[in-house]
Amino acid sequence: MDILTSKSNGILMIEFNRPDKKNAITAAMYQTMADALKEAEADPAVRAILIAGKPEIFTAGNDLEDFMKNSSQDAIGERPVTQFMVNLSRAPKPVIAAVAGAAVGIGTTMLMHCDLIYTADNAKFSMPFTQLGLCPEFASSMLLPQIAGYPRAAEKLLLGEAFSAKDAYEMGLVTRVVPADELRAFANAQATRLAALPASSLRATKSLMKSAQTAAIDAQMMEENKYFGTMLSAPEAKEAFAAFFQKRKPDFTRFS
Ligand code: COA
Repeated sequence: MDILTSKSNGILMIEFNRPDKKNAITAAMYQTMADALKEAEADPAVRAILIAGKPEIFTAGNDLEDFMKNSSQDAIGERPVTQFMVNLSRAPKPVIAAVAGAAVGIGTTMLMHCDLIYTADNAKFSMPFTQLGLCPEFASSMLLPQIAGYPRAAEKLLLGEAFSAKDAYEMGLVTRVVPADELRAFANAQATRLAALPASSLRATKSLMKSAQTAAIDAQMMEENKYFGTMLSAPEAKEAFAAFFQKRKPDFTRFS
C-alpha cells in the first residue's frame, strides 16, 4: 500500500508509504487520499487529520512517470490530484502535516492548505515547477506571495529554489520546527489535543478563518489550470521529465 490510512483516538492518519520512489505520488495515491478525506468529513470518529511521510522523505511530489502518461488525458478538474487538493483545501476538520526530509512540488503546495504544519529541522522544501516547464498549481501562486511576501515567493516559484525548515518558518509557511526525532510524537500529541476539543468549535473556528478566502482560492486554481494542462504536454515539460529519468540536466535552450 503506497498510502497507509488508519483511525485511532479520533485521528485519521494518512501516511505516504512509497519509500523506494521517495514517496512520489501517483494518481492512485491521490485517489486514496481524496477518498479518505471525503469519508472523514462525515465520520464522527474522525476529529483531526494527520498527514505524514517518512523520517527521511515527506514526498518527492507528483510521480513524474504519471505526469508523462496522463498529460493528455482526464479533464484537469477530474484528475485525482485535483480531487485530493480540493478535498484538502475544503476539509472542515483540522489537518496537521508532519514534514521531515524533502517536500517537493505538491509536497510543499499541499502545506498551504493544511492548518498546523510541523516540520523537522532536516526538512527541505521546493517548488521546482519552472525547472519542469510547468507553473504553480492549487492556488500556490496566490497563497505563497500572501504568506511569504512577493519577493521571497518569487525566488521560490520563479527559480524553484529549495529552502530549509528555518527559512520556511521565518517566511510563515510552517507552524513550528522541531528536532527530527521528536516530530512524529509532537505532531501526534497536537492531533490528540485537537481531537479532545469540541468538534463543533473547531469546525466553526476553521471555517471562520478560511471562508473569506475560499472563492479566491477556487478562482486561482482555475486560472492556474488554464496554463498547467497545456504545459504538461508541451515540449519543455517532456524534455524536463526525460532529463530526470535519464539522470541528466534538461536543455531548454531550443525553446523560446
Ligand atoms: N516521480 C517518479 N519517480 C521519482 C520521483 C518522482 N517525482 N522522485 C524520485 N523518483 C524515483 C527515482 O526515479 C528513483 O527511482 P529508481 O530507483 O527506479 O531509479 C528513486 O525514486 C530514488 O530517487 P533518487 O532521485 O535516486 O533519490 P535522491 O535521494 O537522490 O533524490 C529527490 C531525492 C526527491 C531530491 C529526487 O528524487 C527528485 O528531485 N525527484 C523529483 C522531484 C520532482 O521534480 N517532483 C515533481 C515536482 S512537481
